[in-house]
Amino acid sequence: MRSHSGPSRREFIVGALGTSAVSILSPVLPAWAEAKGSLKSLAADKGILFGSAVGASAPGSLAGSLNDAGYRDILTKECSVLVPENELKSYVIAAQPDTYNFERGDRIAQFASSNGIKMRGHTLLWNRVEYTPKWLLDRVASLSPAAAEKFLRDYIQRVCTHYRDQVHSWDVVNETVDPKSGQLRDTPFTKVLGFDALRIAFEAARENAPKAQLVYNDYMSWEAGNERHRDGVLRLLEQFKARNVPVNALGVQSHIGNDGHIRDIQDKQWRAFLDTVVGMGYELLITEFDVNDKDLPGDPGTRDAQVAASAKGYLDVMLSYKQLDHVLCWGMVDKFSWLQNFSKRHDKTPQRPTPYDDNYRPKPLRDAIAAAFESAPKRNRDQ
Ligand code: XIL
Repeated sequence: MRSHSGPSRREFIVGALGTSAVSILSPVLPAWAEAKGSLKSLAADKGILFGSAVGASAPGSLAGSLNDAGYRDILTKECSVLVPENELKSYVIAAQPDTYNFERGDRIAQFASSNGIKMRGHTLLWNRVEYTPKWLLDRVASLSPAAAEKFLRDYIQRVCTHYRDQVHSWDVVNETVDPKSGQLRDTPFTKVLGFDALRIAFEAARENAPKAQLVYNDYMSWEAGNERHRDGVLRLLEQFKARNVPVNALGVQSHIGNDGHIRDIQDKQWRAFLDTVVGMGYELLITEFDVNDKDLPGDPGTRDAQVAASAKGYLDVMLSYKQLDHVLCWGMVDKFSWLQNFSKRHDKTPQRPTPYDDNYRPKPLRDAIAAAFESAPKRNRDQ
């Protein structure tokens, strides 16, 4: 039985796909599972939600994909779930001291609801100083532990209650494990509150989003060099269990090749990590999938083929875990990918990290994702 419960996961999948008897009587699927052959319908056949990040920054900007008609068209055809790329982060919502601005997030929420697409939330506490507004860091640093707790609870209450049940799954805490040391990152939150900062964040999310799946999200990966990061995340997940912190799932960001090298999966170590996570009772999600092609040859055909092959190998491993029922790409069209800025290629050609090219044509990566869904085992919600 899933602890975040509610009508959310099991009932919407059963309700949406229908039992076989219902499907015979009523062949019409709801919007999120429609379009035969779409990624959302291939995923839905296996009890999985497929989707993407979308951004509401200025038109024409990398993080402004929501303004683009071609992008929106792909989202409505392919996606059963969306996640705002930046709009629910504190640096957007609380850019100005003590002022909450949900305008950008609301535009995405409106687009999702009017197209029958579900929405994830990202993220209530991105516990890194580079991604938290300075005023907020200074404020927390100046507070007593009790006052800092109240501040954090108030912030999370405001954000969660604003979106209420529309967000069925929240990345509550993002990237709080330092990859080099495996320890909690040193931030004003952890300085004032220690581990309790995380406990408080999850408790406040549970209180204000009672039905939502609550996720710890991070970028530990399967490649050599990630051992400390993985160990740190496992220790954190153990602590959550030991202290009864309400965490349902681990979000595996899945930015393949993000350190600039696509390398083979260390299959044994990676599976051991995932086995330990699910052995503790956590669900899994792929929250931010893309393939960084920085190291690959310039020729687009060769590059696309290698990107697709790496993706298929990775997704096959991940989808073999039935505890995983969300796959979200961090963008659907290359020209809106954050990697165009974050990880520029030496030959100055644009990255090709997402399923669609700049003319909205599907690439081999899309076929790889489709094939991975087709070969994935079906999720059985009763188990
Ligand atoms: C990135 C966005 O894509 C960019 O637009 C923004 O400038 C920085 O953040 N891990 C995460 C995401 O959890 O929030 C990041 O998104 C990508 C890495």
